[in-house]
Amino acid sequence: MKGIPSTDMRIVESPADMQALSRTARTAGKTIALVPTMGYLHDGHASLMREGRKRADLLVMSIFVNPTQFGAGEDFDAYPRDLERDMRIAAEAGVDLIFAPKASQMYTAGYQTYVNVEDISLPLCGASRPGHFRGVTTVVAKLFNIVMPHVALFGKKDFQQLAVIRRMAADLNMDLEIVGMPIVREVDGLAMSSRNSYLSPEERRAALCLSRGIVEARKLFAFGERESGRLKGAVAAVIAAEPLAVSEYLELRDGGTLEEVAQAGSGTLLALAVRIGKTRLIDNCILGEPD
Ligand code: PAF
Repeated sequence: MKGIPSTDMRIVESPADMQALSRTARTAGKTIALVPTMGYLHDGHASLMREGRKRADLLVMSIFVNPTQFGAGEDFDAYPRDLERDMRIAAEAGVDLIFAPKASQMYTAGYQTYVNVEDISLPLCGASRPGHFRGVTTVVAKLFNIVMPHVALFGKKDFQQLAVIRRMAADLNMDLEIVGMPIVREVDGLAMSSRNSYLSPEERRAALCLSRGIVEARKLFAFGERESGRLKGAVAAVIAAEPLAVSEYLELRDGGTLEEVAQAGSGTLLALAVRIGKTRLIDNCILGEPD
């Protein structure tokens, strides 16, 4: 029932079983919301689940650390996993059903089909993680086909991911609503991420340079600065002042097309990826708008 926390949450592993449950729910006239995750849940995920709870009769959360979106040498093996903890958080947020398939069930022997969104997958994270978005769009398309949601919810911290998924859904006539939810931050400003768990206390402190950079750019924008070079320079100075931080990208782009802009304006995206030790963190904002 919409808005009512679930008491008897189910876990489903098999894509065929999940599909059958969704088909039954749809036949009974129920609406389905999906929150796709890779697990190791935090309050950012919980905000997606709470919103999903409000929007549909059946709230499904998927937990799947998707191998095809990790490049060679990335953190697929090390990615944090804790299903019991995730189950507790999901139950509290009112999830009815966790879909948690194994990689061998999602990518069966002989698998060879991928979904590729072109131009907007290329810059930013697409440039530093070649093939990443092809893995994301492939798994998300599969999740949509398996869970058959009426609405799917994603966080805006992964701004480009959300844009790429929206593009895929529109281009492939997928019959569902894609909802983007605000970034959830720790009290000191750090954007919530499962990867924050990799940070040592010293790195955790250093990681604040991302949100500080964003605050700085927001401030300059509010005072009328529009010149892209100067806005980026101010953020770069904040990152450079942190000895543990190495900037991977720092860009101002149009929030719709993701094309680079020389002058910031309404709807301009500031996006950054920074390495703190071995941990790669991303953050972003739309200048002039709240998270
Ligand atoms: O944002 C994530 O956690 C993942 O990229 C997603 C959307 C669940 C696909 O694996």
